[in-house]
Amino acid sequence: MQLEYSTWCEVEDYLKSRTDIIIPIGSTEQHGPMGLIGTDSICPKVLANGISERKNILIAPTINFGMSQHHMSFPGTITLRPTTMIALIKDVILSLTSHGFTHLFFLNGHGGNVASVTTAFSEIYAEHSLNKEPSSAHFHLWSWYDGDRVKALSETSFKDAEGSHATPSELSLSFYAHPSAVKNVELPQELSSNTNFRDCFDFKNNFPDGRMGADSSLASVDIGQEFFERAIEDILERYEKFYHL
Ligand code: NI
Repeated sequence: MQLEYSTWCEVEDYLKSRTDIIIPIGSTEQHGPMGLIGTDSICPKVLANGISERKNILIAPTINFGMSQHHMSFPGTITLRPTTMIALIKDVILSLTSHGFTHLFFLNGHGGNVASVTTAFSEIYAEHSLNKEPSSAHFHLWSWYDGDRVKALSETSFKDAEGSHATPSELSLSFYAHPSAVKNVELPQELSSNTNFRDCFDFKNNFPDGRMGADSSLASVDIGQEFFERAIEDILERYEKFYHL
């Protein structure tokens, strides 16, 4: 069940029997010469939709922009400042909790979002603590690529060639979601093991084509389907601990 294709009456009915919701969250940022700029949003969105089909959980519209300042040397990237992102997440949370949602599961596709999203959670909890008003809301952030099954598949499929940005795992999942958008590009054998960067200038000096130690050319639709199935199992396991029907 997707929020954007539902009516308010359907949401009202949903809230009579359950109060949980999944919010996919990603970014709009370069993913190397082969990877789609929407990779980090496409991945949590396709997974959230897969989970909704299995468990009929309400899925919010994907938050397509994230904290991507370090990718700003590459055309097409759109970033939020951390403060903008914290404000955005807080407003999304406060909107949903005001309607009666109590369990908000943020399904994330971009590591650069983690600090801002968890800070937004802390800001809301701090307001409850300082105002001596107990909170009935529970927030959880889970990055799809952190699941045990996904990590094991990445290890056996790609080993060190996985890298940490524009990875063959995330590209495979995005290609599985959108096979008509697959790019075939010759890539230089750049496999920097560096993972440090500050601003977008520093990032581009360290990672000239945008990849961080990742051999994106190993990505495929077929492996993407395996990532999809394993990630769904990882997320459901996590979700069932977060919200009991
Ligand atoms: Ni990514």
